[in-house]
Amino acid sequence: MDHLPVLYREALEALCIKKDGVYLDCTYGRGGHASGILELLGPHGKLIAFDRDPTAVLAAAELATQDSRFRIVHTAFSHLKIVLDELKIERVSGVLMDLGVSSPQLDDAARGFSFQSDGPLDMRMDPTSGLSACHWLAKANADEIAHVLWAFGEERFSRRIARAIVEARGEAPLETTAQLARLVSAAQPKKDYHKHPATRTFQAIRLFINGELSEVEKGIQAAVERTEAGGRLVVISFHSLEDRLVKHAFRDASRPPKGDPRMPLPESVEKPRLSIISKAVKPSAFELNKNPRARSAVLRVAERTLAA
Ligand SMILES: C[S@@+](CC[C@H](N)C(=O)[O-])C[C@H]1O[C@@H](n2cnc3c(N)ncnc32)[C@H](O)[C@@H]1O
Repeated sequence: MDHLPVLYREALEALCIKKDGVYLDCTYGRGGHASGILELLGPHGKLIAFDRDPTAVLAAAELATQDSRFRIVHTAFSHLKIVLDELKIERVSGVLMDLGVSSPQLDDAARGFSFQSDGPLDMRMDPTSGLSACHWLAKANADEIAHVLWAFGEERFSRRIARAIVEARGEAPLETTAQLARLVSAAQPKKDYHKHPATRTFQAIRLFINGELSEVEKGIQAAVERTEAGGRLVVISFHSLEDRLVKHAFRDASRPPKGDPRMPLPESVEKPRLSIISKAVKPSAFELNKNPRARSAVLRVAERTLAA
């Protein structure tokens, strides 16, 4: 399946595109949102896109040669400030983050993201760096595995599954998604019939392997610093852990600084840098009908204030 951009109209409206602005799409994927941004930009506007997945960067290469307003960079968005410094861009007019994995990543069994189809147990968004799920599962001890399953998947049978993984790998290396999915299913005493038993385990290992939550924290912080006053930050997340982080990051940056209420605030104290524009926006029934993968998507929008 090609990637259908999620909350497309909502995200583009929320960005309030200025024709000659400089925008940042931190998660290019297959460029669904990016092409919408380019359509709204005028001839002097610019769009810089990031993706940590080399296949997404390759998919953007043709567009980059055809449209001089567009540029693609192979990087994790936590490096946002370094890349903007290299490009000599002080501030951008708005930032989009459409988190998680794309349909092409999920649908390619060779990437190892899916428990629905068998493939090597990899799960790295950038297969050119870091540890694959297979390598990590071969080395981590049962406590570490259980911690990851609990912290990043809220898997209530985390200990049981971790023990089963350690036992199984003593007999044969754990190398494929089907092996892991079977093992996790067998280790669960109670099944949730609305979800595949391996859903939480796969989510947890993927988030951990790719450092996804710390990417979101660092990425939002950097985006707040490098967005101009009046510019919008638009973030689409796909599960509650991620959405909670986004909500808290926006909330923290939109609160007045804490101080002693009896003392006047010195001029130097920072004012809130964000103002929250919308709470959780969810896909319409029409969109869900067309694209069931959008079902857990949540969009949040904040606007950069004048504060330094
Ligand atoms: C949900 S898809 C984005 C889809 C895109 N908006 C579209 O319309 O085609 C997420 C993409 O972001 C990339 N990605 C996820 N986390 C990233 C990060 N921390 N830095 C850079 N890219 C990331 C993934 O590799 C994937 O290609």
